[in-house]
Amino acid sequence: MEVRPGKVLLDEKEIAARLDGLAEEIREFYGGMPIVIVGVLDGCLIFLADLVRRFEMPLELALVKVRTYIDEAAPQKPPDVPMGELGGVAGRHVLVVDDIYDTGATLAALKSEITAAGAGSVRLCALLEKKREHEQEVHLDFCGFRIPDVFVVGYGLDYAGRWRNLPHVAVLEGYDETPPVV
Ligand code: IMP
Ligand code: MG
Repeated sequence: MEVRPGKVLLDEKEIAARLDGLAEEIREFYGGMPIVIVGVLDGCLIFLADLVRRFEMPLELALVKVRTYIDEAAPQKPPDVPMGELGGVAGRHVLVVDDIYDTGATLAALKSEITAAGAGSVRLCALLEKKREHEQEVHLDFCGFRIPDVFVVGYGLDYAGRWRNLPHVAVLEGYDETPPVV
């Protein structure tokens, strides 16, 4: 079967409505305190752009590209967080924004590296959380939607680099293996 986006899981309107609520939760939580938002590339791109435009509070944006290794020989290797790209987070209140909480490896690595860099606080936000047993449990402070344990594309999420541009989130049809990490 050809691999392609199938059933729409979340349409544009649902996403926009949830983002209004999520932005409100975040605004209330920080109460006007200046924050640094760390976006996790590439998947956060569209979510982040739509989310930050709902804020009027003082914030700085930093972007980080986290590399995940899929390596049979070293499956336990944690994702590499290039902290040098992040600038100073010491003493700052950091909100990490990612596309999806899947195994938890990415968010767990970011939380521990940013904490170790001396951030005043580190909170985690993901558009999606998969309902599954996460290999690394993290506390998601802000979550857009909890979805079934299926592979999804669109609204920033890709399969082998494709379909990030879809305005909605769709289930990937014909998919039955671990995707290449881009
Ligand atoms: P983690 O497994 O929680 O560390 O997530 C690592 C990365 O895998 C995420 O940031 C996504 O880029 C990617 N990923 C996990 N599940 C999906 C999916 O269903 N669709 C597209 N990308 C995914
Ligand atoms: Mg990806």
